[in-house]
Amino acid sequence: MENITFAVLFVLLLAVPLFFKRQRYRFPPGPKSLPLIGSVLEFPVQSSWLTYQRWGRELASDIIYLNVLGKHIYVLNSAQAVSDLLEKRSGTYSDRVVTTMAHEMVGWDKNFALQPYGEFWREHRKAFHQQFQPDMVPRYHVHMYKQAKDLVRRLIAEPNALKQHLRYMAGALILRVSYGIDAEPKDDHYFEIIEQAVYSLTEVANTGAYLVDFLPFLKHIPSWMPGAQFKRDATVWAPQVNQMFDEPFDVVKRALAEGNAPDSVCAALLSELDPRKDHAHQETVIKQAVGTAYIGGADTTVSTLSTFVLAMMTHPDVQRTAQEHIDRVTGGDRLPTIEDRDALPYVTAIIKEALRWRPVLPMAVPHITTADDEYRGYHIPKGSIVMGNAWAVLHDEARYANPDAFDPTRFLTPAGMLDKDAPDALEAAFGYGRRVCAGLHFALDSMWVNVACVLATLDIRKPVNEHGVPVEPSMAYTTGLLEQPEPFAVVFKPRSQAAEALICEGHDD
Ligand code: HEM
Repeated sequence: MENITFAVLFVLLLAVPLFFKRQRYRFPPGPKSLPLIGSVLEFPVQSSWLTYQRWGRELASDIIYLNVLGKHIYVLNSAQAVSDLLEKRSGTYSDRVVTTMAHEMVGWDKNFALQPYGEFWREHRKAFHQQFQPDMVPRYHVHMYKQAKDLVRRLIAEPNALKQHLRYMAGALILRVSYGIDAEPKDDHYFEIIEQAVYSLTEVANTGAYLVDFLPFLKHIPSWMPGAQFKRDATVWAPQVNQMFDEPFDVVKRALAEGNAPDSVCAALLSELDPRKDHAHQETVIKQAVGTAYIGGADTTVSTLSTFVLAMMTHPDVQRTAQEHIDRVTGGDRLPTIEDRDALPYVTAIIKEALRWRPVLPMAVPHITTADDEYRGYHIPKGSIVMGNAWAVLHDEARYANPDAFDPTRFLTPAGMLDKDAPDALEAAFGYGRRVCAGLHFALDSMWVNVACVLATLDIRKPVNEHGVPVEPSMAYTTGLLEQPEPFAVVFKPRSQAAEALICEGHDD
């Protein structure tokens, strides 16, 4: 209790000067704000992107401002504002929030998606980019084909475990590509240690902020003290996070020393250490950069592919059209490959539309400014939180007519080709500027392979109840940092015997 009182006093001490300073500057419009505490009572907790979008409409402004306990928060609701600030001025808008609990105590500073902007982050991004840039991604197609086929087999065998199968596919792909490790078909050890560690990330993200984030000296209090649950949690979670980064990395290092390491991102990076630079430092960067792939790539891919399945189930006409296109290109006697992508713009448009319709990270990851700035006469001080509202950008009627409808043709010309003039959903769905998704090209290829492979071989249908009436999905989504459909029932049926046969032969055999 004493701690809380002290924390409130501390926050007020911080807030008072900011309150008076604010009077001198012009800030964008925002929700109701009270002296000292600002808009803390208005701060949206669930589906915040919808609230920000509504405020934008009510206040007729594409920039919303909130002062929460002295913290300046800007939400950008339009493609224009996002492009002007997060893209064109990304040298100033690319820092991250750093917290005592998540970063320092639990060790999530190893995840370079959460690292502050600067040289250390740049080294991670460079190593990652070296292996995930567009020219490198084709090396991983063979693994994508293998996992996509395995996914189809699993969906046929056990249709009621969609999410589990998608998680397996995305996880096994990243594990193979990153470390050269083949996941066990069941109860894989690496999945377990990764999932265990990622649980703590979800917990710290959902909690939002801990008292220790405001009062860092609290990290020194003994774990047994009342109110020190955060410290007990950190003591359990930190070794799990270390294990997740260390264990697969050590396997690759050992295999390289023994001369039998399979091809992998980690092995490639370790084989190219610069002899003029500190080895231990380079190894740390590689370990952390590679370890970030699973965290960045697994749940995001699962979410988009779940949305794809939901959309196909509820839009059978779109599904049929895509299948006709695929059959025309493959003749129905082989599985589609990435080489068919140019001939199948409708399939690409389905993926763009899934990313637009239900963006996985509707508020991306918050960016922080590293210098004072001014935009349209508004003051944006150093250290402000600036969030691109991907949901609002991707559901802007001025850019996407009838934005709530799932309609892949919005990305196509009347002749059925990809429309280069249509606003691209990828712009907002993958984040912004220098922090744009580092796995974008890998993600697009792997989703394309899975979507094309599933459509080529399976019919996706609503289940029917005992009276033969189709069961409608709730269409509900989770409302945390990452948006994904709530579990729904779905039926997968092989389109034909020939399609089923394709799953047992082909790419990886
Ligand atoms: C549907 C798939 C995906 C979506 C929608 C997605 C979206 C995003 C978004 C919105 C961000 C934050 C960008 C920002 O702060 O502005 C991000 C960052 C990141 N993503 Fe992805 N992502 C996907 C798949 C992947 C995959 C497959 C990988 C790895 C292979 C990956 C690796 C990363 C990394 C490393 C970052 C951090 C970049 C940085 O902070 O420098 N992502 N992603």
